[in-house]
Amino acid sequence: MLQRLPKQGGVGTAAASKCPVSTIIWILAAWVLLFQVYTTLYPPPTALTHPKNRVRSIIRYTEYEEPEFNRLPLPPNRNGKKRRPDYIEEFWSSSHKRQIYFPNKSSAIDPLTNNEDDRFYFHPGREWHDSQGRPIQAHGGGILYIPETRTFYWYGENKDGRTYHISKHSTARVDVIGINCYSSTDLWLWKNEGIVLKADERNVSSDLHVSKVVERPKVIYNDKTRKYVMWMHIDNANYSKASVGVAVSLKPEGPFKYLGSAQPHGFDSRDMTVFKDGDGTAYIIYSSEGNSELHVTVLAEDYLGFRNIMSRVLVHGYREAPAVFKHRGLYYMITSGCTGWAPNTALVHSAESMLGSWQLMGNPCVGGNEELRDTTFFSQGTFVLPLPGIPDMFIFMADRWNPYDLRDSRYVWLPLTMDGPADEPLEDVFEFPLWSRVSIHWYQKWKLPQDWDKVQI
Ligand code: GAL
Repeated sequence: MLQRLPKQGGVGTAAASKCPVSTIIWILAAWVLLFQVYTTLYPPPTALTHPKNRVRSIIRYTEYEEPEFNRLPLPPNRNGKKRRPDYIEEFWSSSHKRQIYFPNKSSAIDPLTNNEDDRFYFHPGREWHDSQGRPIQAHGGGILYIPETRTFYWYGENKDGRTYHISKHSTARVDVIGINCYSSTDLWLWKNEGIVLKADERNVSSDLHVSKVVERPKVIYNDKTRKYVMWMHIDNANYSKASVGVAVSLKPEGPFKYLGSAQPHGFDSRDMTVFKDGDGTAYIIYSSEGNSELHVTVLAEDYLGFRNIMSRVLVHGYREAPAVFKHRGLYYMITSGCTGWAPNTALVHSAESMLGSWQLMGNPCVGGNEELRDTTFFSQGTFVLPLPGIPDMFIFMADRWNPYDLRDSRYVWLPLTMDGPADEPLEDVFEFPLWSRVSIHWYQKWKLPQDWDKVQI
């Protein structure tokens, strides 16, 4: 037996030559197979996964100007160090920063000024005027696209009133004025369609009374009833009613008829959104259990009530301001932390079903500087708009709240791209990296590609 043992040595030695050819072939085949499995699991950083190529794919879609914001040095904090402990405190006490994040009215995006060089450019954070030259009032909003007329409808809170506090420690507020609607075919020039759901000035017990809270309206179209359905957060001034309200209209331009409010399945609900899936199933997603988790509840067929299906997600996550979208059959949700009007870090979660489970993917904000990325570009998300005809590209819509003067809150719209596989494997699960990396890119100035709105869908 001992004599039969081959001597140590590599291929080509006398010992190896005694090895049957079939064994060598099997060994080679095993190596090839192993290599293939490895490269599938850990693709080399080329093609789509390489950060440089990601940037290139965005340039394909957008024209932009190099943001000088990126080069802003981090301002020293009070201890003279290069880092600051609290962005927010520093922001409110620094007029320099306020000028950066809320540039004055002279820099407004105004279609009436007819500045050809600036046409179609989005300037996150600048005042934005409608087709009549008035600042757009559509905060905490969302957009409904109607393919037949190729028209976008932007619904949001009209906060064009005086900012005040009902008590020393309460949050800043304005009286309810109503929900505004604007229409556009190019997403840049918006026509004011007026207040489509008006506040009630007389009836103190009405959900829409001026003293209440009516926030984050979102509209979806019901193909069966052919009605436009608006869901919104309904509350009283101290946010203890914690309900959702629903209104309905025969036309996107309203007027909407208010039908009432409820706590879905008896649970408190504050920041919310709705999402209509490709098969017509619609979901309402809201912060619940004192904002400690989100609930996903299936809406009734007519979208005017709830079905008996609800799922608790992001439990113990303390997330709000949900914005949901779908990409290649998978669901993505961007949320904020719960810090009132003050910005914080966005997170994106993904799931194979709206009811979960939802997996954490991380902070989607890229570009700019650390402060911008840590504060969702100094804003809070409200909606993600798919761009008809441009796959893999969306617009992330956010609010840059100004709690000193809420009517002067600004809009931060930025390109959101799905750029190849995620960088990291998902938490808790071992899966192939099928999930696209969600990236929201900071640009101080950017625009959509020319004629994007003429693409045949
Ligand atoms: C935020 C919420 C806003 C508004 C605000 C009031 O957390 O996202 O929609 O409710 O609080 O402080």
